[in-house]
Amino acid sequence: MGAEVLTVEHVAFRYAGIPVLRDVNLRVEAATTVAVTGANGSGKSTLLHLLAGVEEPAEGSVRRRAGCRLALLPQRTSGIDALPLTVAECVQIGRFRPRRRLNRDDHAAVSTIMERLDLVHLARRRLRELSGGQRQRTLIAQALVQVADIYVLDEPTVALDATSRQRVHDLLAERVRAGAAVVYASHDDADAALADRTVRLAGAVEYTITDAPV
Ligand SMILES: Nc1ncnc2c1ncn2[C@@H]1O[C@H](COP(=O)(O)OP(=O)(O)OP(=O)(O)O)[C@@H](O)[C@H]1O
Ligand SMILES: [Mg+2]
Repeated sequence: MGAEVLTVEHVAFRYAGIPVLRDVNLRVEAATTVAVTGANGSGKSTLLHLLAGVEEPAEGSVRRRAGCRLALLPQRTSGIDALPLTVAECVQIGRFRPRRRLNRDDHAAVSTIMERLDLVHLARRRLRELSGGQRQRTLIAQALVQVADIYVLDEPTVALDATSRQRVHDLLAERVRAGAAVVYASHDDADAALADRTVRLAGAVEYTITDAPV
């Protein structure tokens, strides 16, 4: 077992008093993948937002290991379409740091991820000029180009064809082999089965964790 990077204990969450999650407990170790599954509205995105610190729990605690860097791919990303960004610029954002220009490593990482996700020929296109799958690949590239210890991805492969899906899973597996933790939400059983563990949310009251068959 690797070091624990995320610890969720007795977490409850409510939107305007309406319960969404109750008594969720989860431990995520370095170099492992966790798939979060469940029906529409069961709270997957909410749980991922809690893991990333975008939302605070009403009860219980979410702890990230000190110093851990976290990259988040949200499910809803429509706001970014209003910006006049090209694909290449959108991916580069993943390497932005305050008061620092992108260096050679940053540019190399951007080039590599764009090749791996078949984005090179789209580099100068604006986000709003892309197909759904091309746009999703761009946003995945922006998340995966980040140097992070924890990658939290909300339904990353939902709009993707089989080839692109495989590419994303290959990249995630590489990040995990390099020691990162990956948590992703998915509706697809085959997709979820690729994770080391599955957390199935069953609405506000119950959830189960299973180890993937080996
Ligand atoms: N900002 C919000 N304000 C109020 N209720 C919300 C808000 N966001 C989500 N909800 C509600 O919280 C519940 C959980 O939503 P969440 O988006 O976490 O589900 P999900 O499992 O990610 O669903 P999906 O599979 O559709 O992505 C749903 O009942 C939803 O209607
Ligand atoms: Mg969701």
